[in-house]
Amino acid sequence: MSNTHSRTTPADALVLFGVTGDLARKKIFPALYAMAKRGVLNVPVVGVATSRLSSAQLRKRASDAIRKSGRVDDKPALDRLLSLLSYVSGDYNDPGTFEALKQALGEARRPAHYLAIPPALFATVIQGLGAAGLAEQGRVIVEKPFGRDLASARELNRILRSVFAEDAIFHIDHYLGKEAIMNILYFRFANAFLEPIWNRNCVASVQITLAEDFGVEGRGAFYESAGTLRDVVQNHLFQIVALLAMEPPAYRGFDAVHAEKQKVFRAMRPLASDDLVRGQYAGYRQEPGVAKHSDVETFCALRLFIDSWRWEGVPWYLRSGKCLAATVAEVLVELKPPPQRLFEDSAPANGLANYLRFRLSPGSAVALAARVKRAGKEFVGDQRELYLLDEQPEEESPYERLLGDAMVGEGALFAREDCVEAAWAVVDPVLTKHHRAVAYKPGSWGPKAADALIAADGSWHNPKLVKEKK
Ligand code: BG6
Repeated sequence: MSNTHSRTTPADALVLFGVTGDLARKKIFPALYAMAKRGVLNVPVVGVATSRLSSAQLRKRASDAIRKSGRVDDKPALDRLLSLLSYVSGDYNDPGTFEALKQALGEARRPAHYLAIPPALFATVIQGLGAAGLAEQGRVIVEKPFGRDLASARELNRILRSVFAEDAIFHIDHYLGKEAIMNILYFRFANAFLEPIWNRNCVASVQITLAEDFGVEGRGAFYESAGTLRDVVQNHLFQIVALLAMEPPAYRGFDAVHAEKQKVFRAMRPLASDDLVRGQYAGYRQEPGVAKHSDVETFCALRLFIDSWRWEGVPWYLRSGKCLAATVAEVLVELKPPPQRLFEDSAPANGLANYLRFRLSPGSAVALAARVKRAGKEFVGDQRELYLLDEQPEEESPYERLLGDAMVGEGALFAREDCVEAAWAVVDPVLTKHHRAVAYKPGSWGPKAADALIAADGSWHNPKLVKEKK
């Protein structure tokens, strides 16, 4: 290992592997445009991919992608970004590709390499960078899924560490850069009132829904190699669980947060096949790149336990899927009902018990639900939500924030390697041993079997998309 990268030195170039792909088009180019607008992107950006394109053609693609993602209200910023952009095409297995990249980088010595490529190509590219001497003072940003299972994640981490220094490696999970998710951490530990109830004594169950009303949208081939469990559960949803379940960090600073999150992943009980319902939307097998008899899941619901002092016996229900009834993400922490039903209408016979709800998207909301009496002689009431936060537009997109952080060497909002491996250890048993995926109707909330999974503890709370009431 000859990495002499310094944690605080900003990168002097950005290299985008997979620049012609879906992620670059949808998220990375719009994020770069936003950075250019804020004046924080002033280094060359070199795109790398296998397609034979000229730099001018890549610039045209970038400009189209940015225009498609929203209004271009700062033409000089767009022009500045395009003027920074160049392209190198080549096969990742060919050392010549990395030589061409070196040429394109010119004077730059501390490039940040962003690997927005299929996981199967990670090792080839990382080793190619190492062999060409492009890793010495560089950083590497890897996209999830980090590997396909525990063994391949370990192998990927080993290869990464053999080429890059530990603090030069950034595992990007864009959920960690979302405003509403950062607020979970803040809300939990900036308030003292929560702590006495935030445990097995008062929490009945937790459910997290990450629903999308669209299908795989041309990413059939990727989905065939991933499925919902690898695509969003092992990373995005588990990161949310860790923030909700972790102990208070022992001191100020993100190292302490990472350490507590890691303990949550370690305490998660490895999943068994009966903890998991896999679904597949009708029509998935007709998507381009999908096998005719595919059993890959596009929906997954699971029951998880965290075997810790705080959470013993509390079920965590997680579900996510494509082609569901809405595009929405929400956490619902359901509290235990009062020990006695003193009023006829007390929960839970009359719906949900008190709960705390975090709307993660669209927008961001935190609401606490409690019952209050209706005016009149009768002792009956309603559950009302007290809004602590209403929807707010995100200031920076997660990719903008995280790319900027990685470029300056700030690793706080990235997934730590040991956490990634511990999370894989939880899902590893069900990656190969699971029940078959059951079909569900596009536009529904997934297969009926998911309702049966949660039945012992209530039912799924389907997040509503109506404008939040104050
Ligand atoms: C990505 C998954 O990581 O997250 C996609 O690969 C998913 O399948 C996306 O659609 C959801 O992210 P967001 O920010 O749009 O909720």
